[in-house]
Amino acid sequence: MILSSRVAHHIRSDRGVAYSRVAVTSTDHEPAAVAGPSPATSSTPVPTAIPIRTFHPRRGRMTGRQLDAMDQLWPVFGLTVPEPAGSPLDLADLFGRRAPVVLEIGSGMGDATAAMAADDPSRDYLAVEVHTPGIANLLDLVRRHGLGNVRIVEGDALELVRGLPVDALDAVHVFFPDPWPKTRHHKRRLIQPAHVALLRSRLTPGGTLHCATDWAEYAESMRRTLDDDPGLVNAHPGYAPRPAHRPVTKFERRARTASRDVFDLIYHRV
Ligand SMILES: C[S@@+](CC[C@H](N)C(=O)[O-])C[C@H]1O[C@@H](n2cnc3c(N)ncnc32)[C@H](O)[C@@H]1O
Repeated sequence: MILSSRVAHHIRSDRGVAYSRVAVTSTDHEPAAVAGPSPATSSTPVPTAIPIRTFHPRRGRMTGRQLDAMDQLWPVFGLTVPEPAGSPLDLADLFGRRAPVVLEIGSGMGDATAAMAADDPSRDYLAVEVHTPGIANLLDLVRRHGLGNVRIVEGDALELVRGLPVDALDAVHVFFPDPWPKTRHHKRRLIQPAHVALLRSRLTPGGTLHCATDWAEYAESMRRTLDDDPGLVNAHPGYAPRPAHRPVTKFERRARTASRDVFDLIYHRV
């Protein structure tokens, strides 16, 4: 598969860089006083922006198979989040065809993405993840299952979405996002009003935002947030019945083992 120069522009060429963790951040910021001189007065501390991340920085070793997948497949199927100043990502160019695109935010080890892409060849799957071993694992699954309809972005999903054209996505999946259970960490949650408005703006009219979680309090918060968004309507009266097309991943298996409920929320853009 040959990617066009426009897409190749976003792809890492330095293999050494590809394996290292990149400092990817959200551009939502919280002010914090910094003990340094203000450029204006040279004595007054000024607030500066500390980026808020929706993910835990994690290290992880890659297996031999994952390293090999990274070597062989990253140049073909992988890209980093494009620079904010660049032109919007051209998805038809990226996938080499014009088809509905599903964005998989936080694809983890990629099992769900690979299974859905295999079952749904008429749509393209754009997975975004910050965890390098997970990215490598999905690349390996792409190779093993011969999937042509998957591309994998390394970096912050929110940055990626800001760089997508409006109306670009047929669906957005946010499956088992980090729950950030402590109240002081709720600002790190992926599903919060500003992020939902951003995701909705990139959905095509009638497009789907599908979230799933096993964290009951986060599920309630998601429901309030999604209900309150003026551009979304709930496809079901309350939580959705578990859709058969959402593959079971380790997070759902863990929840079942611990007798925790799993909540699906399926909304459409009006
Ligand atoms: C709890 S895991 C769930 C993985 C997968 N969706 C599943 O169901 O198996 C959440 C994942 O989201 C990723 N994540 C969180 N915030 C992200 C962001 N802003 N951009 C990209 N990935 C993110 C984390 O690195 C983590 O792998």
